[in-house]
Amino acid sequence: MKIAVVGLGYVGLPLAVAFAEAEHEVVGIDVDPARVDSLNAGRSHVEDVPDSALEPLAGRLRASVDYGDLSSCDAVVICVPTPLTSSREPDLTYLRAAGESVGEVIRAGHLVVLESTSYPGTTREQLLPALERSGLVAGEDFHLAFSPERIDPGRTDYTLRTTPKLVGGLTVACIERARELYELICDDVVVLSTLEAAELAKLLENVFRSVHIAFVNELAQLCDRLGIDVWEVIDAAATKPFGFMRFDPGPGMGGHCLPVDPFYLAYKAREHEFYPEFIELAGKVNQAQPAFCAELIERALNGAGKPVRGSRVLLLGVSYKAGVGDTRESPGLKIARLLRERGGEVSFHDPHVPELPELDLSSTDLETGLAAADAAAIVTAHPEFDYERIVAAAPLVVDFRGVTRHIDAANLIRL
Ligand SMILES: NC(=O)c1ccc[n+]([C@@H]2O[C@H](COP(=O)([O-])OP(=O)(O)OC[C@H]3O[C@@H](n4cnc5c(N)ncnc54)[C@H](O)[C@@H]3O)[C@@H](O)[C@H]2O)c1
Repeated sequence: MKIAVVGLGYVGLPLAVAFAEAEHEVVGIDVDPARVDSLNAGRSHVEDVPDSALEPLAGRLRASVDYGDLSSCDAVVICVPTPLTSSREPDLTYLRAAGESVGEVIRAGHLVVLESTSYPGTTREQLLPALERSGLVAGEDFHLAFSPERIDPGRTDYTLRTTPKLVGGLTVACIERARELYELICDDVVVLSTLEAAELAKLLENVFRSVHIAFVNELAQLCDRLGIDVWEVIDAAATKPFGFMRFDPGPGMGGHCLPVDPFYLAYKAREHEFYPEFIELAGKVNQAQPAFCAELIERALNGAGKPVRGSRVLLLGVSYKAGVGDTRESPGLKIARLLRERGGEVSFHDPHVPELPELDLSSTDLETGLAAADAAAIVTAHPEFDYERIVAAAPLVVDFRGVTRHIDAANLIRL
């Protein structure tokens, strides 16, 4: 098959690589010419796709800025961003633009699949009309489906191949075409009866995580008041072999998905005069967590007789999760801003993030940074960190990830 992937980011590039590795001809379309040039030169910008994975695919996978290149393809998979506007409403600008561009070159017989996360109804209400501007009719002249991406960046135990792939379509024939497409690269394709059920299933997964993370973050705040070790409590509850699922507290939620996607569903619900309280409450609790963590640093410094103003705080890890360099919506950035507002001198060390232009900072050398800091805060539990060494080298360590539970030291404070 000849397959086009529109949007070559965290989702689109691994997908394009998977189709090419399965011996299909793939063209990746992106509006970012620098990204396209670097991919065509064999350089990947996605950590899960090393340059060495691109090299053997040189003849089968190429990137392009020209939507005209997808007219000769059998299937088009759209993976463009779906962020929030500044007023936290769905921003479908990228999706509409991609839909219109595909609509200009679509031809009879195409299969178009949307993978971007969005509220139920997006494929039918937003993408379908853009594609039908071509004069072709969805479900008759071309097939239309939705298949959410469930990728967890940095994860190696579940891959694109081994994670079941959900597929919903406009018609039964659309579903069958999409199933055939994904069976090329996935072991298990799960079919849903409608586009909307597939769209909502993805949001359910993300809201589920957001609500449970909020619940344990709130529990961590309560444990702080009660003087109880939240990690000991969660470890104990997790020994129950049934009826409990472990979630860990932390400095707050980050990434492109959990802080964003639930609000797509809340927006859609409001259109139907329905106000989903779990989503809003979880968002509120999780968004307040970085402020609570900044306060813990402030309290730790105060305990050492130091005000935040003028104190040097080293953040260990600024990406939103361990093992990746993605800083989108990262709580580390919020903690850094809050400390700066109070006069703190913030630096960071992150083996996955060399620069933070939004804070005008570069990753500092770990040993130098620890030696200079008044306090070090473990924000992201990167596998590269040696916590014994960190606790031994810093005058004060605040751990938001529970990774120092095995260490007993007077200079250590945990969430
Ligand atoms: N990152 C994740 O872990 C993850 C996981 C599951 C689902 N998703 C969803 O997948 C979608 C894509 O997310 P991502 O993280 O890959 O985004 P990303 O920002 O990493 O990549 C998106 C790419 O699309 C390109 N693009 C933007 N507008 C375009 C257009 N009109 N035509 C062609 N290319 C265009 C951008 O230049 C960029 O390269 C989002 O809806 C997101 O919610 C992301």
